[in-house]
Amino acid sequence: MCGIVGYLGPQNPKDIILQGLKKLEYRGYDSAGVAILDHGIFKRVRAEGKLVNLEKKLVDEKFEGHLGIGHTRWATHGVPSERNAHPHQVDGISLVHNGIIENYLEIREDLLKMGALLTSETDSELVAHLVALEIKKTKDLFLAVKSILLRLRGAFSIVVIWDQKPKEMIAFKDGPPLIVGLGPEETFIVSDVQAAIAHTSEFVYLEDREVVWIQNKEVRFFDDQGNEVKKAPVHVAWSEDQMDKMGFPHYMLKEIYEQPRAIAHAIKETFQIPADFESQFDQVQKITIVACGTSYYAALMGKYYFEKLARIPCEVDVASEFRYRNPLIKKNDLVIAISQSGETADTLSAARLGKSKGALLLSICNVKNSSLDRESHIQMYMNSGIEVGVASTKAFTCSLALLNVLALRLGLYRNQIQKPEFKEQEEALKALPSQVEAILSYDKYFLEASDAFKEFKGFLYMGRGVSYPIAMEGALKMKELAYLHAEGYPAGEMKHGPLALVDANIAVVMILPLDEHFEKSLSNLEEAKARGGKIISLSTGHQPKLKKISDRYLSLPKAHWSTNPILSVIPLQLMAYHLADSLGHDVDQPRNLAKSVTVE
Ligand code: F6R
Repeated sequence: MCGIVGYLGPQNPKDIILQGLKKLEYRGYDSAGVAILDHGIFKRVRAEGKLVNLEKKLVDEKFEGHLGIGHTRWATHGVPSERNAHPHQVDGISLVHNGIIENYLEIREDLLKMGALLTSETDSELVAHLVALEIKKTKDLFLAVKSILLRLRGAFSIVVIWDQKPKEMIAFKDGPPLIVGLGPEETFIVSDVQAAIAHTSEFVYLEDREVVWIQNKEVRFFDDQGNEVKKAPVHVAWSEDQMDKMGFPHYMLKEIYEQPRAIAHAIKETFQIPADFESQFDQVQKITIVACGTSYYAALMGKYYFEKLARIPCEVDVASEFRYRNPLIKKNDLVIAISQSGETADTLSAARLGKSKGALLLSICNVKNSSLDRESHIQMYMNSGIEVGVASTKAFTCSLALLNVLALRLGLYRNQIQKPEFKEQEEALKALPSQVEAILSYDKYFLEASDAFKEFKGFLYMGRGVSYPIAMEGALKMKELAYLHAEGYPAGEMKHGPLALVDANIAVVMILPLDEHFEKSLSNLEEAKARGGKIISLSTGHQPKLKKISDRYLSLPKAHWSTNPILSVIPLQLMAYHLADSLGHDVDQPRNLAKSVTVE
């Protein structure tokens, strides 16, 4: 959360920084700002709200200089406002920050005692004060940064510049990502390579507690002891045009429609991993999967796949809970961390904890070279292409497909399933892209259904077995996009409480593809219907009995139990999207959220 762009080079920093911030707006959109050198002083322009507000303010601004920083904010300390927007400036220092300074209260008190004049409610401004105070003593930006590093506790990435050094930029991090982009004549510091990939494909990833010192074209790295470290650049070949909406009104809709291709790619890549891959897991007796949000629901599905197909006991935990409950992880356990961004703070900490207890760490990320990706023993990729919409869609379905293939491969390797069953499921997976395509071709029915959703005050999403995580994911999509109350429940739990909510204002969305749970889920629907609930059901093909009791029936293609969930989630994504869009919400950037959650 929060996006950072720093630039030092011969081009116009305003355009470069704005272009970069546009690529990073998914990380936060509460405010934005820039500080760019202009005749020897840093001119600062900031605006509350989305980047477009800053762009408007900058239209007629001209800057004579070649150094600048920009920021797009997801508010932690202090309300979203221009006053709290970055960059923060103190005595010629300009600074942008992503993350949280945990000991900010103590620092704030000290600064106030020393007579500091604070102009915002942020923890970030305090760091600018600390640097400014040190600079008074040392007259050197690098030394000033070095001496304040030990004072800061929390998770942060920071870029700082000083008006006395128009060719110098310093950055450091402990937590959220910071990446240095190296051009022949220019240097970038960004939160995500996307912000600089139009200008360079050579990047150096900063590790925690490292400092980068850029002077003119010279770029040097130091560890927290001040020792210089040599770091080799990584070549990143991610093409920039994937950021295009390709004629869709929103990134989210484009990403939903990309799923057939993305899933096909994820499946192919996972089947193609060399055959000796499985032997890395020979000692594994237990799997624990950790993740957050939508990735956590993918993790829940992993439990079904691993236990059913590979017969390996599997626990699933929300990363923020796992990391604080002293979990029982032993050597030879496998910890799988799932994260689209590979930067989610809780998932990263949970993964590190598992690793520190001797577990083998397998990451499933979409973003290559992300922190989680780099820290894992074994890497797998969702391969879904860049996901810009804040609400995750294709990364989820690609994760499910990948987990399914992985569990199948382990099942065959460990003799838990035989070749014919493997083949049958392989075929089911290969059929998925065209089945998803078929569902997408019925989008007008989901649009129509979503219109009827406007009359409801709340939603209960229900499912049994592999449809249960899909119910949870469907409810999350409804909450985050349409801002309507929605709960995901295992259908068998309905009688144990949620049934009390059911009346004519509540929609019960039941996911019941034709599988072993169909009849039981149908009975649960009858119970809801008898209490006046409105029924929306999703099942396989033509189901006359189900249709009769449903206010709206949505049909899915006939599929295998293991691929049904990947199909069922598509209508739920589309309905939440259409409803949110028709309510006038910002679908790509839902309120209060950000895509990459780099704070706890
Ligand atoms: C919901 C959503 C979030 C993320 C969660 C984890 O649509 O996108 O719930 O799934 O913040 O993010 P990653 O997968 O990047 O760790």
